[in-house]
Amino acid sequence: MKTIKFQNTLTVNLLLMIIISFFGTLAVMVVFSKMDTLINPNGSILQAGLLLTFWFSSVILTFIVIFTLLVRKKILYLKYISETVQHIANGKLGKTIDIKGKDELSQLAGNINYMSKELENKFIHERQLEKVKNELITNISHDLRTPLTSIIGYLNLIKSGQYKNENQLQEYFETIYSKSQRLNYLMDELFEFTRLSSPDAMLNLYKIDLASLLQQIVGEYIPIFEEEHLSVRNSITNEDIPVLIDVEKMVRVYENLFMNAIKYSIKPSEINISLISKENTVALKVSNRVEQPPVDNVNKLFERFYRGDMSRMGEQGTGLGLSISKRIVELHNGDIHAEYKDGWITFIVEHPICD
Ligand SMILES: Nc1ncnc2c1ncn2[C@@H]1O[C@H](COP(=O)(O)OP(=O)(O)O)[C@@H](O)[C@H]1O
Ligand SMILES: [Mg+2]
Repeated sequence: MKTIKFQNTLTVNLLLMIIISFFGTLAVMVVFSKMDTLINPNGSILQAGLLLTFWFSSVILTFIVIFTLLVRKKILYLKYISETVQHIANGKLGKTIDIKGKDELSQLAGNINYMSKELENKFIHERQLEKVKNELITNISHDLRTPLTSIIGYLNLIKSGQYKNENQLQEYFETIYSKSQRLNYLMDELFEFTRLSSPDAMLNLYKIDLASLLQQIVGEYIPIFEEEHLSVRNSITNEDIPVLIDVEKMVRVYENLFMNAIKYSIKPSEINISLISKENTVALKVSNRVEQPPVDNVNKLFERFYRGDMSRMGEQGTGLGLSISKRIVELHNGDIHAEYKDGWITFIVEHPICD
């Protein structure tokens, strides 16, 4: 927590005020003692007593008046601090106190300001999370309902015996099975997304060589690319690229990029995969051909549930893949973005290299 440097000046100030009040009182006493003419040597004891009481009371009163005058500014400032805290407690988060002077009171005011700003930021963040959650629920319930309606529809047909023969029954079962798998996939993606959205999402970091990890994954994907009539131009560096990553999570990012390239690229065509290191960062680039950019600003694709029109027609994805990837890359202090140029869409993942 940020604190203003502690200065023990309030005590010193108070002591100073007491000393000033003391000397002030002393001065008044001197003035009084000069007025000895008031004391009548022939007066009664009662008269002398009364005079002494008056003298004492005047001295004490003088001390109180001088001290109160000196301390008044501090008391007013304390009152102002207390009122502002009351406002903050009543919900005016972010309200701050003007810092006056350099003592424990200004330190207290500084800390209250910090607390007030922090509370305001937390409140705004909570509100944003709430909004994101609501959007998420709306979108996901729509996406979940589609396969579920279909499953219920087919099960109803089977239940009421509305099929012509064994073959049709088998067809229904297969549709039900594939819709259930789709439902399962949607649930997994949703679970992953909410898990990663939480502010205390944890990473299992390991130091590994990114070049060999990517060579291995690309090697596993080559048969799938070929099956889809996509030839791969692989320019993954041969150097060692040490990175500190959560392997399971980053593999999810790479696999989503490769699967997207397979799903959304023109076929037959080419896919370029490169891994290049530059100073302290390493960049993975995955490019594929598209007839037209799925959206004017390709970086919109990283928004939750954003899916191009083409992908909406087939029930392939969820539109969560890239936003999950963005969150994972950001948790690794990296950056992921997309570029479009002349019929090529490129996704770039940048990472810090570790020493
Ligand atoms: N390599 C790509 N080429 C063309 N369009 C892509 C590519 N990758 C992603 N997209 C577009 O971005 C959208 C979001 O992708 P993503 O978040 O991975 O969700 P999903 O794959 O589940 O649809 C896709 O629906 C698609 O329209
Ligand atoms: Mg995807």
